[in-house]
Amino acid sequence: MGFRKSGLPSSLAAAAADTGRYCGTSAQIEQIDGQPDLRAAIVRECTWLTPEYALKWDAIEPKPGSHLFTPVDDLLRFSDAHGMKVRGHTLLWHRTVPSWAERILRESKDWGPIHRHFSTVLARYGQAIDQWDVINEPLEPGHHGDGLRRSVFLDVFGPDYIRRALEEARILAPTARLMVNEYGLEYDLPDERSRRHCLLKLVERLKAAGAPLDGLGIQGHLDLGKGKIDATAFGDFLAEIAALGLFIVITELDVREADRQAPVAARDRRVADEVRRYLDVALAQPAVRGVITWGMTDRHSWLSPSTADEGHATDTARTTRDRNRGLPFDAAMHRKPMHSAIRESLLAAPR
Ligand code: G3I
Repeated sequence: MGFRKSGLPSSLAAAAADTGRYCGTSAQIEQIDGQPDLRAAIVRECTWLTPEYALKWDAIEPKPGSHLFTPVDDLLRFSDAHGMKVRGHTLLWHRTVPSWAERILRESKDWGPIHRHFSTVLARYGQAIDQWDVINEPLEPGHHGDGLRRSVFLDVFGPDYIRRALEEARILAPTARLMVNEYGLEYDLPDERSRRHCLLKLVERLKAAGAPLDGLGIQGHLDLGKGKIDATAFGDFLAEIAALGLFIVITELDVREADRQAPVAARDRRVADEVRRYLDVALAQPAVRGVITWGMTDRHSWLSPSTADEGHATDTARTTRDRNRGLPFDAAMHRKPMHSAIRESLLAAPR
């Protein structure tokens, strides 16, 4: 694993391992297979991978009963070959329910399609993948008294759908660690205050009901346009979640920039400083066990949407100025100050 002449870990993986933690990234096997520089960086810097898209319901079962397993199988082959682990992202997410399944769920009010989805995916991957986002993004304060998001799941099965999904997953993958994954929890904003409150109450209700919830995924999509991270409130929130016996993972770290007209060096400095502020609070909580970025390079990021669709060739042509620079490496795979911010925060973290 990468160490400097100073003996200090130089790779994110080594810096994380220094305190028994782990580091990783979201990934698409097609990009890893087609880009040797990206592949090399992932092998050097990561011990965990999250399928960015391939394991989602609409990607893995676009038509009823016809499954596209290859992208996930190939990602697992790659991770196995490099001693990495894979996160199961995600079983139930309102944004990736195939339209055919949404129709059946609404018409039949029958849990069957969800049971079949879980059974198929967990039968195939329940052993190889031991950390699952069973529910992704259940909250949208303002619609429902308890802050739950309006979705086909809530509409058809009521608030109890979350406990039911967790229990279903526990039966089908008894050794897997089951999680709920959420965003918008760190800034000093009314909406994010309400999200922290609603998520804590949700976890308390689930634990009180004996639901098999083992961990919490905090996405960590930072945004320089959102003002100040509320370090005290966020730190307290993490401590309250830890006190309920859950482990925590930062699952989708990246930074949305506000000003792309500023000099690139200034932009990268702002991004790195925000990441350091954030991780110094998060990693001060021993229950926070891992940091996963939502991509390694600005070459591929949902924050520069078109990169996903236009092949690699055009990517490089895209100007440095246009891209969002919210990931550890730039489009040419050069390390950025954000990489150092993550590494230094990991090295400074308590065990
Ligand atoms: O792979 C197909 C490609 O074959 C096809 O040509 C192309 C055109 O339609 O679509 C490609 O699939 C896209 C896929 O990303 C791969 O790039 C899907 O349309 C697109 O919907 C999918 O978007 C993903 C999105 O979640 C929805 O699943 C993004 O990559 C991914 O970054 C984003 O990630 C989410 C997390 O899961 C949850 N938290 C927020 C985060 C950002 O939205």
